[in-house]
Amino acid sequence: MFPTHRCRRLRKNETIRRMVRQTAITPDDFIYPLFVTYGKGVRKEISSMPGCYQESVDEAVKNAKEIYSLGIPSIILFGIPEHKDEMGSGAYDDNGIVQTAIKAIKDAVPELYVITDVCMCEYTNHGHCGIIEKGEVNNDKTLGLLAMEAVSHAKAGADMVAPSDMMDGRVAAIRNSLDREGFSEIPIMSYAAKYASAFYGPFREAAESTPQFGDRRSYQMDPANRREALREVALDIEEGADIVMVKPALSYLDVISDVKSTFAIPVAAYNVSGEYSLVKAAGKMGWIDEDRVMLEILTSIKRAGADIILTYFAKDAAKILNG
Ligand code: PBG
Repeated sequence: MFPTHRCRRLRKNETIRRMVRQTAITPDDFIYPLFVTYGKGVRKEISSMPGCYQESVDEAVKNAKEIYSLGIPSIILFGIPEHKDEMGSGAYDDNGIVQTAIKAIKDAVPELYVITDVCMCEYTNHGHCGIIEKGEVNNDKTLGLLAMEAVSHAKAGADMVAPSDMMDGRVAAIRNSLDREGFSEIPIMSYAAKYASAFYGPFREAAESTPQFGDRRSYQMDPANRREALREVALDIEEGADIVMVKPALSYLDVISDVKSTFAIPVAAYNVSGEYSLVKAAGKMGWIDEDRVMLEILTSIKRAGADIILTYFAKDAAKILNG
């Protein structure tokens, strides 16, 4: 009790603050998302995500070199195919956009750990994450295609696959196919607790994956639900997930914390597009100190329990953290 206890003693100067600081972020924590598109020499800024680009493979390779030189160990690839169709065939085409990008990036920067987003929505003309039947996304018919997509990414040289579709049973389907095809050493990071979030708005511009009818609420989770996240995560772990992800991050810190304290498995959190755009916009307006807000957000996601953070801020943050 006061005056015996004075919490301010341990805040007196930066040295003692450094000594008692509980949470530190480093570039090691980050996975940087890349949007790869067709063509050559393309580097088109995404208007709602300043500093992020749709890039052709040659430009993505240059970016990959810069990313790795900043100390960021990993990227996650999203593909924007030239043609989309009902079955999302670009997703599991061995010469597809992501497959081509994987090979080029692994050739140029072999140490960079390449993860791929496994989903249908960037490749289907209707923009949903699976196959449509009778106006709905058919769960079981989508599983085979996701498994083919994951195998195709592995064949191209991906280090890890990350299914983001939210179909039931997809982790097991992907694990079985990877193992059968000789990729038993490729880990799965599942988007395990993925919410139907309005924070994905800018991403859909970036990946050109806006659903052409309806929304994703019949497969992504209801933002109001906390316990359900533990059920989703438990099922994915049972099915063979090696890392589980909570997405989005900032409005779901409670969920990150729950998952971290319940399961002994690495937890990833996706600091999504809308979370990035809000900070960039307010920074541009001069309403906030963008760098400090960015670092505070990333620190809070780690403090909540995330071991890994997927973030569009990775390069900006690494530049500051590297001093
Ligand atoms: C694909 C996918 C999405 C994101 C990652 N993978 C969008 C969605 O589900 O609509 C969102 C990423 C972000 O907003 O940064 N299913």
